[in-house]
Amino acid sequence: TSGITTLDAGFKNTSSCKSAITFLDGEKGILRYRGYSIEELAEKSEFLEVAYLLIFGELPTKEQNAKFHSDIQKTALVDEDVKKILDGFPKSAHPMGVLSALTSALTAFNPKSVNVDSEEDMYRAIVKILGKFPVLVAWAYRKEEGLPLSYGDNSLGYVENFLKMMFELPNEKYKMNQTVVKALNKLLILHADHEQNCSTSTVRIAGSSHAGLFASISAGISALWGPLHGGANQAVIEMLEEIKEDGGGYQKYIEKAKDKNDPFRLMGFGHRVYKNFDPRANIIKVSAEEVLNDLGIDDPVLDIARGLAKEALSDEYFKSRNLYPNVDFYSGIIYRALGIPVPMFTAMFALGRLPGWIAQWKEMRIKKEPISRPRQLYIGATLRPFVEESKR
Ligand code: SDX
Repeated sequence: TSGITTLDAGFKNTSSCKSAITFLDGEKGILRYRGYSIEELAEKSEFLEVAYLLIFGELPTKEQNAKFHSDIQKTALVDEDVKKILDGFPKSAHPMGVLSALTSALTAFNPKSVNVDSEEDMYRAIVKILGKFPVLVAWAYRKEEGLPLSYGDNSLGYVENFLKMMFELPNEKYKMNQTVVKALNKLLILHADHEQNCSTSTVRIAGSSHAGLFASISAGISALWGPLHGGANQAVIEMLEEIKEDGGGYQKYIEKAKDKNDPFRLMGFGHRVYKNFDPRANIIKVSAEEVLNDLGIDDPVLDIARGLAKEALSDEYFKSRNLYPNVDFYSGIIYRALGIPVPMFTAMFALGRLPGWIAQWKEMRIKKEPISRPRQLYIGATLRPFVEESKR
């Protein structure tokens, strides 16, 4: 140590804050939002109700739920000029880059949402981003598909309206499928928060400088984009597709993942905190089978995923390192069954994680946490005199 600090690269053994929002027990595979188990919430709750719980700390009464929903719907319109920014992107732009840019741009159209010292200002900024973000996610998809942008229908629930904005075609009425609604509601709940993960820590650190909520969320979107974090759900499907193209032989990929000279990692496997299983992966695995059955989809990739997981779980390398399927391992199989294209998978993760980012940012601001500014162990050059260019 340097007499001031101890090095902890990746903060593997550092608690960055005290929080009352989400509880994880990595050994026992426990995940709770404000004390409620993820198993119960995934089964019995609705995504916006879970958002309320995470942000305000209690399950809402019927009236609170209705007001929250209508306040969010009222703010769902996005300034028409935002479409000009979206138009500037090529169709091939990755949705996460589009979302990070448009979310940050929202500050320009909602300048009052930066100073959130009063509870009312904070509430207004919170319902604004909850109302506008699903629109931006749907628009990112529609841009990629070359489809017209829409706002859906405010008489629908949060998840239904998102599906309508995503998939409604201009020349036909969108047919709501309750299996799809239920599966997406469950997926979004399962992604809603996860204590101090990489992207949430990014939102807290950006917000600790008192950057506005939208700018802090934009920073979180960028951090989530990485394949070691939220980007893993896209990388998993790309890996499973590659295995399928390769004749379904996953043994070769398991060997590659174990080879220290090969940077390849088994995507969707391993977790910084969960060392026995990721409770979300268990729920998503069951839901994937239900959704594929209900929709009558036979996706060979699910069989490959099951075989790959079984093989890896019995392999000494993975067992000795406590590597198990994580939340990203099966989620892409459901997104695909719901008609969501692979590049949108991490954007779906962001849509789910939004309430958690908001809740954690709010807790940090209300507790007036200091600006995040870690130290370092300096290992660079000692003092040396300047050298004229002619002598270098
Ligand atoms: C998410 O933090 C969160 O909560 C994140 C998240 C959330 O909800 O916010 O849960 C969402 O990001 C889930 C994780 C998605 N990422 C992936 O699936 C990518 C593949 N997984 C890994 O890169 C890795 O497991 C991490 C990033 C998830 C965790 O990395 P750690 O905790 O830094 O662990 P590590 O890299 O130090 O690995 C420990 C050992 C190493 O081997 P040794 O040096 O001890 O020999 O396990 C090996 C690693 O090489 N290892 C893997 C592996 N994951 C770890 N080897 C092969 N394949 C893998 N997937």
